[in-house]
Amino acid sequence: MDFVVSRAEVRFEVIVADITTLAVDAIVDAANSSLRGGGGVDGAIHRAAGPGLLAECIALGGCPTGEARITGGHHLAARHVIHTVGPVWAGGGFGEPELLARCYRASLALARDHRLDSIAFPAISTGVYGYPGEEAAEVAVAAVLAEAQTAPPSRIVFCCFSKAAADRHRAALERSLSA
Ligand code: APR
Repeated sequence: MDFVVSRAEVRFEVIVADITTLAVDAIVDAANSSLRGGGGVDGAIHRAAGPGLLAECIALGGCPTGEARITGGHHLAARHVIHTVGPVWAGGGFGEPELLARCYRASLALARDHRLDSIAFPAISTGVYGYPGEEAAEVAVAAVLAEAQTAPPSRIVFCCFSKAAADRHRAALERSLSA
């Protein structure tokens, strides 16, 4: 069951879905610094978008961890893809939380700059990059709520790939919004 809550003109949603199917202004790709595709959600997005996405990404020349880049959506239902590079989990003492938060904030800053009205995030870094799901959900929700104080999209979706991940994001959102 999807979870929806509105706060200060922003509709926050937590859903379980394949992010490549979402018809939003931008879906966020949990990429690597080469921006040349990979597995997980990165592979799914590139497969659904078609080869034009890779060609556009190659022209961008990569992306450092914690930063974000925007491209067209190509054959995706989404108009744009915002590519961001999360941290590889190394135990939590190497700046991972701050780098993960920067991914969410940089993605929302690009959405703001491009006047996008809706954005969907996967659970960045929680797959191949090994970031523990509970901690990642807390960082993600805190970073999104902080950045959403400044001209946010009207719709922000946490697009999880499992019920467990959705439950974590919903719980973090409920805690943050009731605090
Ligand atoms: N839709 C939504 N979420 C998805 C999808 C999908 N189609 N496919 C996978 N996910 C989820 C995973 O279940 C996980 O919760 O996305 C989250 C992020 O996992 P990864 O895709 O493995 O990304 P990440 O952990 O950030 O690792 C990035 O993996 O795919 C490579 O090129 C990528 O090198 C980079 C690394």
